[in-house]
Amino acid sequence: MRIGVLTAGGDCPGLNAVIRSVVHRAVAGHGDEVIGFEDGFKGLLEARYRKLDLDAVSGILARGGTILGSSRLERARLRQACEETEDLSRELGLDALIPIGGEGTLTASSMLAAAGLPVVGVPKTIDNDISATDRTFGFDTAVGVATEAIDRLKTTAESHQRVMVVEVMGRHAGWIALESGMAGGAHGICLPERPFSVDALCAMVEERFARGKKFAVVCVAEGAHPAEGQMDYRKGEIDQFGHERFQGIGNRLAAELEDRLGKEAKPVILGHVQRGGTPTAYDRVLATRFGWHAVEAVHRGDFGMMTALRGTDIVMAPLADAVTELKTVPASRMDEAESVF
Ligand code: F6P
Repeated sequence: MRIGVLTAGGDCPGLNAVIRSVVHRAVAGHGDEVIGFEDGFKGLLEARYRKLDLDAVSGILARGGTILGSSRLERARLRQACEETEDLSRELGLDALIPIGGEGTLTASSMLAAAGLPVVGVPKTIDNDISATDRTFGFDTAVGVATEAIDRLKTTAESHQRVMVVEVMGRHAGWIALESGMAGGAHGICLPERPFSVDALCAMVEERFARGKKFAVVCVAEGAHPAEGQMDYRKGEIDQFGHERFQGIGNRLAAELEDRLGKEAKPVILGHVQRGGTPTAYDRVLATRFGWHAVEAVHRGDFGMMTALRGTDIVMAPLADAVTELKTVPASRMDEAESVF
């Protein structure tokens, strides 16, 4: 078989582990040929690809980023791209395509599958917001980075009697803020799913200072926003890729807390640090299992599906299910987090 693989959308620790696993299972396990498209769907549309053999994927398991490169495709170009991709994959003699990506990539993959292309998707995102799978690889790494940041910020905050506002990624789902906030013992956690109260955050800080704990750390997701009338804050605009660009809630909230409390409050924006670098052992294992199962699905002819984690098992889920709605943090998980404030 001739199998194409590509990585698209924002990068994520563990992408190389999937590529390596696909090549190992396909080439060594089934005697297939694997080609890797460069820079996501752009490379597919421009027929930019290279052969991936065992040597090509040697030593990449622990490497962050993606050896294939990645790119985002504007939504407007998606449908047109699907038609072009159809012709191209026939010209290239592809028996299957394995796109590894998040919501946008899985949407494109679902469209390609609906057009009759033999596609098996692999979900990835540090945001953990793909609904058809319990977890995505990259999330564990991002939570680890953010947790370490909170741990570190606590000691410096305490030395200087400051409030630290740490902004983590998560445009529409607050999984990283929730889990790093819990693991790091943040004193306030603000998620996109529930508008937060600045009054409550101020009361929490005052209460801590009153009992001698003269510092606080607030963990805020980039997509979090204040409840009506709490603070002047405008959510972002939609960019050319269909993504909402935020105005910097971390900076804005730190300034607001400083003004209201009369205490120093510093913003720390973690940004792409959460996405870079080596994946954790958990993410390497999940990514490797996804790669193995994607190749098996190709050989079964299980197209229009994606790999997914259910409990501890890897199962196949329809690509269409992955993109219907984002997996956001349920109220019950937020309630648990509030008990640790
Ligand atoms: O989808 C993952 C994600 O990390 C989001 O949490 C974040 O808003 C976004 O990507 C930023 O990506 P980029 O800067 O590459 O557009």
